[in-house]
Amino acid sequence: MPNEFWEWSKQYDADFIPSSLPIVIERGQGAELIDTAGHRTLDLGDIIANVGHCHPRHVAALQNAAAQMIVGKGSWTNPERARLMKRLVELTPANLDKVFFATSGSEIVEWAIRIARRFTGKHEILSFWGGVYGRTMGAISMNGLQRRRKFGPLLPGAIHAPYAYCYRCPFDKKIETCNFYCVDFLDRILDSESTGDLACVIVEPYQGVGGLIFPPAGYLTRLQQWATERGVIFILDEIQSSFGRTGKLFALEWENLTPNLLCIGKGMGNGISIAALVAEARLTASLTPGEMSGGNGGNPFACASALSVLDILQDENLIEHAREIGEYWLTRAHAWQTRFEIVGDVRGRGACIAIEFVKDRATKEPLRGFANTLGARCYPKGCAVHGMDHILALRPPLVITRDQAARAADTIEATIKELTE
Ligand SMILES: Cc1ncc(COP(=O)(O)O)c(C=O)c1O
Repeated sequence: MPNEFWEWSKQYDADFIPSSLPIVIERGQGAELIDTAGHRTLDLGDIIANVGHCHPRHVAALQNAAAQMIVGKGSWTNPERARLMKRLVELTPANLDKVFFATSGSEIVEWAIRIARRFTGKHEILSFWGGVYGRTMGAISMNGLQRRRKFGPLLPGAIHAPYAYCYRCPFDKKIETCNFYCVDFLDRILDSESTGDLACVIVEPYQGVGGLIFPPAGYLTRLQQWATERGVIFILDEIQSSFGRTGKLFALEWENLTPNLLCIGKGMGNGISIAALVAEARLTASLTPGEMSGGNGGNPFACASALSVLDILQDENLIEHAREIGEYWLTRAHAWQTRFEIVGDVRGRGACIAIEFVKDRATKEPLRGFANTLGARCYPKGCAVHGMDHILALRPPLVITRDQAARAADTIEATIKELTE
């Protein structure tokens, strides 16, 4: 039932995309969402509430932090900020020893680029088709999606290359035999597009907004090697993949990567805005203290939130749990691939699984809008599924239980059947 919140949103919200169902979410509890009509759904389209909605320990930590001090005093530090920095340096690869906090992932990406430019004295940035690194001008210049149309001119020096989207390989190669041709091809791109002034390469461990595209094992290692051999700063954008999402605290652990700059955010604060750059000291030393300041970054409230998220992830073994849920869903989804002709590709890791629907398996023509239709059908049945055109993304809070995951899979399976028969 439409209500006043729905109507006001339509009237006043500058960025409102009315869905086919007038849903107004009022509350969250664990892996569930409750709308203003009191309808409960499993939240399967999350990328932020890694420890779940209103986790009692997280809420208590926020209440304590709020009662103590909320605002960060920029020129001084505070205990939570210091604690969080120390913990992040301990949890990330040994080459990373400095931390900077901001309030959004986009800002952190901007800082990563600026540091790479300052350190190298070079200006070009290599990024990937389908990549999304944020919404600020620098970030959209590097993004590889059309959402930057008519916002130009963009940042000079942004160079784009194909990502390892193996299901739709731009080179028509096969993973088994390609030997990471797309990494070698980067040199060809630079030959034609670079002025010989490449500062850095930025990459996501999996492309999130771009459609949950997971590169094959070994790709990121090869890319890091490629960058190192050329003296190019390797920036890993883990803003979406960090804090347990892929079944490791940081996705870089899957291949023991050692990026020069690591961008993290989103799940880090579980809804409280905080993002961080974890960096090599030799790189941050190219800036003078004070150059990286920001109004709200590193405030004690947000840092307390992130510390609590780390505690909960570790104490409740949510990261291992994310892996188990992912493996279960992958098994279910692979069975759908055998059963339903329209299931073209199934991929993912941890609590981050994608199902790509196609009109025809041979041509791989996308089945446009199918995942959105599926989402609209699943909601009344208690599953809030995130449809990305022809790609269904399953990304629940990591506290989702095995029973809830089974219920979600049953619902999706029954709905695909309903829509295809
Ligand atoms: C990989 C990645 N990097 C950066 C960002 C930007 O983060 P924020 O929305 O916090 O500015 C996003 C946002 O979706 C993202 O997915």
